[in-house]
Amino acid sequence: MGLNATDSWADLLACDRLKTRAMSTTHQLRCTNCGARIAGEAARSDFRCPECNGLYEVIYPWSEGAGPWNVGAPADSVANPSPEVRLPNPGGMRHLWQERKTSTLAVDQSGVWRFRELLPIVRDVEHVVTLREGNTPLYEMQRSADLAGVDWLLAKHQGMNPSGSFKDTGMTAALSVAVERGFQWVACASTGNTSAAMAAYAARAGLRSIVFIPDGKIAWGKLSQAMDYGSLTVQLKTDFDGCLKLLTKLVQQFPIYLLNSVNPYRLEGQKTPSMELLEQMEWQVPEHLVVPGGNLGNSSALGKGFLEMKHLGLIQRVPKISVIQAEGANPLYRWFTDENREMKPVKAETRATAIRIGNPASWKKASRVIEETGGWCEQVSEQEIALAKAEIGAEGVGCEPASAVTLAGLKKLVAAGRVTREQRVVLVLTGHTLKDPQYTIDYHRGELLTAEEVAGEIAGERARHEALRKPPLVLEADEAVVLKALEKRMAKTDAECALAVPGTAK
Ligand code: F0G
Repeated sequence: MGLNATDSWADLLACDRLKTRAMSTTHQLRCTNCGARIAGEAARSDFRCPECNGLYEVIYPWSEGAGPWNVGAPADSVANPSPEVRLPNPGGMRHLWQERKTSTLAVDQSGVWRFRELLPIVRDVEHVVTLREGNTPLYEMQRSADLAGVDWLLAKHQGMNPSGSFKDTGMTAALSVAVERGFQWVACASTGNTSAAMAAYAARAGLRSIVFIPDGKIAWGKLSQAMDYGSLTVQLKTDFDGCLKLLTKLVQQFPIYLLNSVNPYRLEGQKTPSMELLEQMEWQVPEHLVVPGGNLGNSSALGKGFLEMKHLGLIQRVPKISVIQAEGANPLYRWFTDENREMKPVKAETRATAIRIGNPASWKKASRVIEETGGWCEQVSEQEIALAKAEIGAEGVGCEPASAVTLAGLKKLVAAGRVTREQRVVLVLTGHTLKDPQYTIDYHRGELLTAEEVAGEIAGERARHEALRKPPLVLEADEAVVLKALEKRMAKTDAECALAVPGTAK
């Protein structure tokens, strides 16, 4: 790749070495279960270790525990990397990443590939397929902070990616690898967002894509995206876990590149929001990061990002990473609270369809992240999710139901003393509010929760729901009628409009 017109001479001298190095891949895959290492190209089509069926992670010469790099001499590794390849210069990288924001090159404008020194997984940046993903906003959430009981709360809104979810950051990475390896077909099983992202990136690259989705349990916005981007969409009469099982068998029989998060390259892209977040916080590390948990690839990836940055000396400590699940799809929560620490898959059921997953593929990786960072796992009810989603929406930010588990979970973590008032917390909002408009409409019309669920709400919560609900008024097109209705509404106080935190209204 060429140099940027925006680089100063001093920067070129300092950083050129890093830029050119990003063109050669220097990675291997290491089984997270048995530690066996292979070349990237040697992975089986289901991305499982042939020895123990474990999942792989991508490692580089500078990764923790990488040891002598020429073990087994994988085809795409550097046999004996020089000391500076083993440890990239952290100060130089921060500067370079910042500089790239002013470049006009697509790979520099991408909020994933801007950090490419930490994910050298493609040989040639010409193969990168990008929609300028990443670069997502970090919002201050003052009202949500007050509701949760912390002084300072931020939301990293990954729903502001090109296809409306965090999946784009992983898809640009894994799909670029698929292109470089010459695949014509790609596929994924999905609760909707992975399929939307895959369909978009495959279309950009001119590849054919197939999505397997659970019949009737996917938000319309997501299904429409897969069709819009030209994917072959297969709705199977099963759940997400059934879709993934079937696809895993299919990829062993056809030359189809599997793009679920068992593909370790997905996680390399999904780790980059950790870098972008710290950049946005001027390299101040928050105390806590709260992430929704479904198949558990995202929490694993963000944890990998933070731990790698600490290992490289870019930061001195990592945030605690806590994973929040829906009560009806809570296998990790059950594992976390089980004294024998046994993982038992569950039959998943939740209206937050994105995380309706009972047998999460990456649970071991995610559990390691929770343990290594000192985080927690919590579960939240359907009522708590609906309330938190409405509260995030009322703050002008909005997100899809699966993302709202973060605020609902944070309230519980604070109540249990796991997060204290003065700690800086970042919620990872994973999907855009327009992904699942039916959920939002049902909520505001009072049609989302069953009578039984409503009866189960505590009085304060019910009042809060009532204040937040904003069903549309259907009126005669008559000035007097409209004025009267508006007068009634406009006379309401902030508290009645749910803008104030309960208990604080004067
Ligand atoms: N939030 C949203 C909006 C999601 O779409 C997903 C996962 C998650 C959270 C959970 O992330 O699986 O990495 O723990 N959606 C997948 C899909 C499963 O197929 O779109 P995870």
